[in-house]
Amino acid sequence: MSGQRRILLIVGGGIAAYKSCELVRLLAKADVAVTCVLTDAGAEFVTPMTLATLSGNRVHTSLWDAGEEAEIGHIQLSRAADLVVVCPATADLLAKMAHGLASDLATTLLLATDTPVLAVPAMNVRMWQHPATQRNLATLRGDGVTVMEPDEGPMACGEYGPGRLPEPEQIAAEIARLLGRVVADPLAGQPDFAPAAPRPLNGRHLLVTAGPTHEAIDPVRFIANRSSGRQGFAIAAAAADAGARVTLVAGPVSLSTPPGVDRVDVESASEMQAAVHAALPADAAVMVAAVADWRPAAAATAKLPKSGIADSGIPLAANPDILAELARDPQRPRLLVGFAAETGDPLASATEKRIRKGADWIVANDVSGDVMGGSANQVHLVTDSGVEDWPHLPKEEVARRLVARIAEALATDD
Ligand code: CTP
Repeated sequence: MSGQRRILLIVGGGIAAYKSCELVRLLAKADVAVTCVLTDAGAEFVTPMTLATLSGNRVHTSLWDAGEEAEIGHIQLSRAADLVVVCPATADLLAKMAHGLASDLATTLLLATDTPVLAVPAMNVRMWQHPATQRNLATLRGDGVTVMEPDEGPMACGEYGPGRLPEPEQIAAEIARLLGRVVADPLAGQPDFAPAAPRPLNGRHLLVTAGPTHEAIDPVRFIANRSSGRQGFAIAAAAADAGARVTLVAGPVSLSTPPGVDRVDVESASEMQAAVHAALPADAAVMVAAVADWRPAAAATAKLPKSGIADSGIPLAANPDILAELARDPQRPRLLVGFAAETGDPLASATEKRIRKGADWIVANDVSGDVMGGSANQVHLVTDSGVEDWPHLPKEEVARRLVARIAEALATDD
């Protein structure tokens, strides 16, 4: 066995298809064997000859090639690879994948495969933002497909926004990550498919909440807090690096999605609660979000006038406690981890919160300094066997340690 990694690359029909040629070149240079499938629409943008020359392999285009069916069989073609990559994944291809259509060679392979699938979408910004596309993406992510976030910027069609295909180097790095390999020298610009760190969360699903919530007062005002989302995003990134499928339910933050993480953006606590439920089942949940405790009892539909409010106040209603309700849910994750941001005595109230909310662990931190929005964190891990004090660490290191502990706990529970 040579140990050479094999990719089945499905090239859909979009102007970004030309970038898939560069992707093939990068992968071939890194000694990855690439077999290309070109859809009819894809063939309008790049030719089979280009992909065959760059990959050094025959390019497959039709389901109805009798010789090919006898020779290889499309089922085998879909399973011989270590990873199936759909790039560019057009809105049409994503919709067909989400609905299980098998109308041509590419979609038939995608339905027949038992190999992990990476979709790299590229399309017009309105098509990307359309609820139908977003629904299809949620379905695909639920089915275990990894979906890369598109880049934002000027588009070939003249509009501006998210929908651009990421650069081939980024896609190659994501492929390397999914193959369980690392980019050894990112500065060199070439993915190095050298053996990587162990991936103790392979096959697990982790749910992470992060960031603040915004609770609308009226169409222009809201109640919020100072959470930056950085600790939660770092945990999601560390869990993805450890091999987990990660769903990150994020409140309004200005952070980019870590590679390999499925992100669901929400605004309010109620939306966060719904997104958490939609993401179940999960092996573990880490609730890092700083959920607003209250919301205005009724958000005004028109902007409130200045006069009157200061005297009468804004009536508030209590928000659902997402962590406590998850602890009582029939689909409760095996390991439930809460965060407790405190300004008083962090340990006493974290110990009490662990029991009251039904969490397995509470990560307690003192937020009286610049922790919210800062880059470091000093935490204490409160479990049923006591309290561990961790040193003052960068948030990324807190994340790595916590993810390592989660992997250990899930392994011993098996
Ligand atoms: N949490 C939640 N839903 C809420 C409030 C909090 O899921 N409505 C979760 C947080 O994500 C965190 C944990 O509960 O994991 C503790 O959050 P914290 O704000 O410290 O707890 P509160 O219940 O708001 O307690 P306090 O009375 O100290 O404000």
